[in-house]
Amino acid sequence: MRDDRLQRSLTHAFRLPRDRYRRVARWLDSTTGGGGLIRQELRHIFPDDWSFFFGEIALYCFVVLVITGVYMCLFFRASAATTVYLGRYAPLHGVRMSEAYASVLHLSFDVRAGLVIRQVHHWAALVFAAALVAHLFRMFFTGAYRRPRRINWVIGLSLLSLVFVNGVFGYSLPDDLLSGTGLRIAYSITQSIPLIGPNLASLLFGGDFPTTGLIPRIYAVHILLVPGAIAGLLGAHMGLLWIQRHTQYPGRRRDDRTIVGTPMVPAYALRTTGYLLLLAGLLTALGGFFQINPVWLYGPYRPWDSTSFAQPDWYTGWLEGAVRMTPAWDIHIGGFLLPGLFWPAALLPGLVAGLLFMWPWLDALVTRDDELHNVLQAPRERPGRTAIGAGLLTFFTMLLLAGGDDVFAAAFHWSLPTLLAVMQALTIGLPFVVGLLVYAVFRRRQPVVAGEATP
Ligand code: HEM
Repeated sequence: MRDDRLQRSLTHAFRLPRDRYRRVARWLDSTTGGGGLIRQELRHIFPDDWSFFFGEIALYCFVVLVITGVYMCLFFRASAATTVYLGRYAPLHGVRMSEAYASVLHLSFDVRAGLVIRQVHHWAALVFAAALVAHLFRMFFTGAYRRPRRINWVIGLSLLSLVFVNGVFGYSLPDDLLSGTGLRIAYSITQSIPLIGPNLASLLFGGDFPTTGLIPRIYAVHILLVPGAIAGLLGAHMGLLWIQRHTQYPGRRRDDRTIVGTPMVPAYALRTTGYLLLLAGLLTALGGFFQINPVWLYGPYRPWDSTSFAQPDWYTGWLEGAVRMTPAWDIHIGGFLLPGLFWPAALLPGLVAGLLFMWPWLDALVTRDDELHNVLQAPRERPGRTAIGAGLLTFFTMLLLAGGDDVFAAAFHWSLPTLLAVMQALTIGLPFVVGLLVYAVFRRRQPVVAGEATP
């Protein structure tokens, strides 16, 4: 008897919400007419392959950046006004510095969980950029950028560029010696642009570097403008992805119309929430256990000082490497000076960005393939493209390593000029060697299909 009552009350407890949901769904359907659409979209299929996870990592890093960033805003002071540090960190006691730098020291040493939050923010920026680069290469090597996803390729690249830029702005905010040095380099790079450089630099930096108005400007851009643009682009990226459906690797029952994977509700929604929590936990562990950007060791920015052994974040390290390795080619053309910095720091990134943004259209031109594709290609199916990708990866890895040439030279007691010469040779030669090797290997492993172009 008691069991019966228990059974009835349990059934009632479970039935009640289900009836309520049904009523809500019926009401939604009668007022918006969208019940069917919602039901259909809740069954949206997500592919299960691990390589699709990079995009999710990037998205969740952004969530972590916003949450930690908002916390830091409560304590950070975007001001270049001078103050004397009287806080808890004894080695800098009594030192004159900007209010921005003093507030970051305060955040790191006095605010509860301040240092962890700062470090989580920094780690999240590093992982964000890495996840986007991995995501980009996944798209590249599998041909996911082909029609109808060309616009999403462009949006993805724009996201990547904005994350790079905002990372640089972020680590410029503390106004320590490393960030000031980075800003001075950014100022010189802007000045090196032919014709418009000096005026553009003055406009962006608010006069001749260093200027007192720069930190408030960077702050507004860092916490508002760029994150706003990133949020908008992420929305557009995912909106398009939703409409176009996902790509998938070739396999049984998979073609351009049928997609195999997990439906959004409930399995995928639960899984991806788990990923979000896992990533947030991992980033917190990184921020808690691994020191990053110890600005108190560098001291405040003074234009006449310079940092040693301090390295830029990895996503700008390649640019640093390019600057270090390119000879100082100052060239005069028609009365205009093209300074040495222009070639590695403005022209090279411009050319790479141009090539990547145009890639889907260049690819279609070469392969004469303008069809819609939802099924991905294996890297070996397109040995030419895979070889170009591998060559580019090698080139950027070499540049990145060159960005730390002084650290390697000091750590292994190598002569810096010799190391630089070796790195220059490897940066030019190795990408071709790797590209040719990859091409040779994949060319042999390719299935031969009569009449098919495989550039
Ligand atoms: C694409 C998104 C973002 C990236 C890549 C990024 C990156 C960074 C980096 C690398 C730093 C230097 C951290 C350090 O001191 O070691 C930083 C500082 C800072 N960020 Fe962000 N951030 C992003 C978004 C945001 C958002 C949305 C906010 C606030 C709403 C924010 C607020 C701040 C503040 C206040 C600082 C200065 C405090 C400090 O450096 O200690 N950030 N950011």
